[in-house]
Amino acid sequence: MKHITLSSILAIAFLLNGCSHTPDGSDEDSLPAITLSPEKLAEGKAIYMKCAVCHGHNAEGVKAFNSPALANQEIWYLRQQLQNFLNGTRGHHAKDSLGAVMVQQAKMLETADQLETVISYIELLPRVQTEQTIFGDAENGKHYYNKVCSSCHGIDAKGLEVYLSPNLLGIQDYYMAGQIRNFRDGVRGITEGDTTGAKMIEMLAQIPDDKTIDDVITYIHTLQTTKPKYY
Ligand code: HEC
Ligand code: HEC
Repeated sequence: MKHITLSSILAIAFLLNGCSHTPDGSDEDSLPAITLSPEKLAEGKAIYMKCAVCHGHNAEGVKAFNSPALANQEIWYLRQQLQNFLNGTRGHHAKDSLGAVMVQQAKMLETADQLETVISYIELLPRVQTEQTIFGDAENGKHYYNKVCSSCHGIDAKGLEVYLSPNLLGIQDYYMAGQIRNFRDGVRGITEGDTTGAKMIEMLAQIPDDKTIDDVITYIHTLQTTKPKYY
């Protein structure tokens, strides 16, 4: 409920993109876009510049800091994860040293309004391409992805908000592999009340080993497109 009120304060308008609006001219599905007032845009940029130190100026993610791309992720998931860092759901396990880094950083968002402003700014950034760093067996990965992951993340890995399952396209492969291991090893998703994290843990019983994780991640990378954020 909180963000709905904030959205109205921010005067964020959700518009529907016409099918023909994709720059490459494809007739992909319409998805909502965001508009921000010039003042809010400037404020979002000013806040984001502090995040850019680790996530990159284009929110493309920086391997040296183990930070993921944010530009390709959807706003509802960014919101949820930032709230998770702040409310103790994520990044508090003793072995989650990278999550702990973000817990500290999330605290710079002192009000819910600032949180909403920065994620709105990120959402307006263009899509970025991420490089491949994991080279597994994409065929085996496809088999497991379609069998185990697609029901929640979608056959195209664009995520399904209805299940609160995030987009996986254009998210760094090393980051995703790390998160999957975190879920598997009880480092993420174990906090009481973390029902979405619990879903990830449950299904990982069907992924036999680290090699299979790498194979699945390799397959997901092959699905990455050059299309804009709103496919
Ligand atoms: C000091 C470096 C650093 C800074 C500054 C930083 N982050 Fe992060 N961020 C990280 C790291 C590292 C991760 C990955 C955490 C993990 O592996 O669990 C991360 C993860 C995230 C995630 C989770 C993404 C996902 O796909 O689950 C979000 C959202 C995020 N950061 C947003 C922000 C925002 C917004 C800011 C600025 C207010 C910010 N970060 C500033 C290092 C940083
Ligand atoms: C039962 C539904 C479900 C299935 C099946 C599932 N996931 Fe997820 N996944 C989720 C949900 C929900 C989240 C969000 C967790 C959270 O809120 O912290 C998630 C999160 C993730 C993340 C973290 C992304 C990020 O940026 O933080 C990755 C990576 C991921 N899933 C990959 C996979 C892969 C690969 C598979 C198949 C091996 C899979 N998932 C199967 C529901 C599912």
